[in-house]
Amino acid sequence: MCGIVGYIGVQQAFPILTKGLHRLEYRGYDSAGVALINTENRLNIYKSHGKVSELERFCESKDISGTIGIAHTRWATHGEPNDTNAHPHFSTDRRIAIVHNGTIENYTVLKQVLEQHGCVFDSDTDTEVVVKLIEYVYRSTGCSLLNAVREALEQVVGAYAIAVISADAPDTIIAARKSSPLVIGIADGETFLASDASPIIEHTNQVVYLRDNEIAIIKRGEPLQVITNKNEPSTIDIQTLRMSVSQLEKGGYPHFMLKEIFEQPNTLFDCIRGRISADGTKVQLSGIEDNASRFINAKRIVLVACGTSWHAGLIGGRLIEELARIPARVEYASEFRYANPVISSDDIVIAISQSGETADTLAAIKLAKERGAFVYGVCNVVGSSIARATDTGTYIHVGPEIGVASTKAFTGQVTVLTMMALAIAQLKGTISPDALRSTAQSICKIPSQIKQTLKLNDKIEQLSRTYTYVHNFLYLGRGYNYPTALEGALKLKEISYIHAEGYPAAEMKHGPIALIDKELPTVFIAPKDELHEKVVSNIQQVKARGGSVIAIVTAGDEIIPSMADHVLEIPSSPECLSPIIASIPLQLLAYHIAVMKGCDVDMPRNLAKSVTVE
Ligand code: F6R
Repeated sequence: MCGIVGYIGVQQAFPILTKGLHRLEYRGYDSAGVALINTENRLNIYKSHGKVSELERFCESKDISGTIGIAHTRWATHGEPNDTNAHPHFSTDRRIAIVHNGTIENYTVLKQVLEQHGCVFDSDTDTEVVVKLIEYVYRSTGCSLLNAVREALEQVVGAYAIAVISADAPDTIIAARKSSPLVIGIADGETFLASDASPIIEHTNQVVYLRDNEIAIIKRGEPLQVITNKNEPSTIDIQTLRMSVSQLEKGGYPHFMLKEIFEQPNTLFDCIRGRISADGTKVQLSGIEDNASRFINAKRIVLVACGTSWHAGLIGGRLIEELARIPARVEYASEFRYANPVISSDDIVIAISQSGETADTLAAIKLAKERGAFVYGVCNVVGSSIARATDTGTYIHVGPEIGVASTKAFTGQVTVLTMMALAIAQLKGTISPDALRSTAQSICKIPSQIKQTLKLNDKIEQLSRTYTYVHNFLYLGRGYNYPTALEGALKLKEISYIHAEGYPAAEMKHGPIALIDKELPTVFIAPKDELHEKVVSNIQQVKARGGSVIAIVTAGDEIIPSMADHVLEIPSSPECLSPIIASIPLQLLAYHIAVMKGCDVDMPRNLAKSVTVE
């Protein structure tokens, strides 16, 4: 994980770098640091345990001048989060500094070799090995900084996005990437670099996404130069960003998570726009019709993802089987990649990822491609590694998601997967025109139904007070809403640190029922659907054992309100679309409980938004 930022130009670098770090804090926030070269060519390095604001406080009395610098916000992988392990790391003579996002797999071997040559290490990190190796090559061969970086990277096994500066070359930043993202922003007389475009957008919309095994040479006042790690010139593809600064700010909400929950009527409108014809008779998603024969003849579809995206995948898999009649399997990317799966060229693998950077999902894609499968990506971040690694795909178009707990990306993913199942079903002729039209028209109603559902906010805030100090929660749902229960439980545990388990409601009697007592609340996702009566029986079983029940029901439900302790009514929708609407009260419940507990909902402990470690 981790986020890196760099700047060279005419302005003071420090405010640009720290503002950029704030934008990237969702990637990790256990320590932060900055390296700047001042007008006397002195390299100043400041680092601090804690969030970026701690670093800013720490630097108040320091020399933070300089128009070139690099900075880092960390999510610890090697070594505990403390000042020493924070980046930037530096050479023994303190003349070269590096920031790094990724993992160096062979760092212990490299460290041993460097120690044999007299190198002394201060930190427990893998990154320090890289800067010491650069220094070793630079000093022992007398080559340029660029060649020292290139030679050092030849020895490194692993994933990296790095930026390097040196007091010996005060007008240059060398940056390189392999498997970790790096974006370079180009403006008049200034160049920016960052792990994603969010720190860059307020300065320029002209960007270059560095590719794997490329090295960028960023010199003050000179055009950007990019070479491969084999020292051959690379083509530079300048793209125009379609993102606005307002999308990256809280817009009056106390937290990004709440803003993102409330944005969902608009984000889902954007997600659906242009994909369903006005009369509901046609559903189109990029990469499906162009590959019609692959989808029509697919023997199987395998969906791979992690965390919340995997929950969306569970719903998508069920939809694909039900509507398109193609066998679908849903796998954790982290398990799939090591399971030696049977995959053939008749299979389609769908990789789902908000960030488009998740290491396990990327590895699963690589494996699927090696085994001949056609890989389709469902991503949010435009230009991300997964979007580029897949054969084709589509974006969910819900805008930047900054809160670490995924909300609008989940509803966007499920909406896209629903449209995908309909589009494939249409191609295969497995859905009647009437059923297609009616489901497509119901999808178009989702944004307004979510707007309606968000009116539950005050009620949920009130009821959260009752549950703030509970230690465990159970979430139960059936069919399409079993994954909704998993997602509700994940949301609560990740931001409130309350243990919560999601289960298929009917499985309760096979074990979890033993947990039920008056201390354990159960959230039932119980809209009016085919299995409604069965879920009603489960609620009775919980009530009979003294458990309290929060039930999410379809407006007008006449049975459950008489049994449940709290009822949250959602608008009626076809069964397969109910997870999208039912997830809104679950997001709000997790949010309010976490806020009442005093938790940092946007940056929960130990988590990061983009999981680029394995
Ligand atoms: C939970 C959450 C994570 C992510 C998971 C995959 O709220 O956000 O579980 O869903 O880390 O991330 P992406 O979708 O970026 O691949």
